[in-house]
Amino acid sequence: MGTACFPALPARNSTDDGRSIVKDRHRRPKSGPAAPARARAERAPAAKASAPPKKEPRPAPEAPARPLMRREGEKPAERVPVILETAGSDQYRLIDSGAGEKLEQYGPYRIVRPEAQALWQRSLPGIWDKADALFTGDTDEDGMGRWKFPKAALGETWPMHLLGVDFHGRFTAFRHVGVFPEQLAHWSWMKEKVETAGRPVKVLNLFGYTGVASLVAASAGAEVTHVDASKKAIGWARENQTLGRMEKLPIRWICEDAMKFIQREERRGSKYDIILTDPPKFGRGPNGEVWHLFDHLPLMLDVCREILSPKAIGLVLTAYSIRASFYSIHELMRETMRGAGGTVESGELVIRESGPDGRDAGRALSTSLFSRWVSA
Ligand SMILES: C[S@@+](CC[C@H](N)C(=O)[O-])C[C@H]1O[C@@H](n2cnc3c(N)ncnc32)[C@H](O)[C@@H]1O
Repeated sequence: MGTACFPALPARNSTDDGRSIVKDRHRRPKSGPAAPARARAERAPAAKASAPPKKEPRPAPEAPARPLMRREGEKPAERVPVILETAGSDQYRLIDSGAGEKLEQYGPYRIVRPEAQALWQRSLPGIWDKADALFTGDTDEDGMGRWKFPKAALGETWPMHLLGVDFHGRFTAFRHVGVFPEQLAHWSWMKEKVETAGRPVKVLNLFGYTGVASLVAASAGAEVTHVDASKKAIGWARENQTLGRMEKLPIRWICEDAMKFIQREERRGSKYDIILTDPPKFGRGPNGEVWHLFDHLPLMLDVCREILSPKAIGLVLTAYSIRASFYSIHELMRETMRGAGGTVESGELVIRESGPDGRDAGRALSTSLFSRWVSA
């Protein structure tokens, strides 16, 4: 399927792939949900003393919303806390962490990036100097200039292979590398569910980024719909599909605001068996539609429930860079899934350090919260 898309707004205060950066962390009060009006106010540029008077900025458009449904029935069973761990492989592993940074192996490269959760000291201080790439973030420019390559200049991308899928690792301007390895825990679960379903499975991947989850689902046999607001990310996802010679797999690549898309699917009566949703704390649709997790997540899950098929397998939510406990998304998921049976399991996604050779189990680095509803 083709993609129709308008250029995304500049991403200086949020990342080009939606993961929050420090500036974004300070845009909203640290506790509690904020009214949509605040989201609009935050967008207003600060007036400069010498600047000529400007027109009032137009309010940021929001996806039209329907009211939340009143859910009846028993809440699903619960399993808490569940810690899903990515242990690492020859293609990816967390080698060491500490002093606010992490050292990871991505395919052929060792990469150092900031990691606020790594409060402890490094276990293997001697090997950090041998890294191939370091994210410095010391320029405001987009692109590779925010990376340093101490050994030799490297290209922007490199080949990677995870869960049977080929894709490109990529040095992005916002310190990310084209894949979030903690998601492997969800992707292996989904792969196994698709492979053992014994029937055609439809997967919806919301906030799908570079498409690795979509490729994993499609290569396991699912029919996939991938939605992301960033034209650039959809382009990378399509490149990944070509790299793996997976062009024939049934994937619809859709560049659209996730909320708008699911509400349209609800009106159309479309249904999916598995929905993955990994929303940022703050993001924008292709037409500037505002996404604020604390304001919009309840409705997002509510609509997702409506577009789950009668034989649905699961609804998987990940949340990161937010000040909340997994209980807040756990209880929301259980309320949303009242009357659906099954189990809601929630907790954290962590990555376990495994040393330079992948043999030494070290400390667990927390990356995100998750909650998933799994059918009975
Ligand atoms: C961190 S990424 C998700 C990563 C993905 N789950 C993975 O592991 O590959 C967040 C994505 O949300 C997208 N995004 C942000 N706001 C959006 C919106 N309103 N609608 C759709 N996608 C949005 C960004 O373009 C970005 O690709």
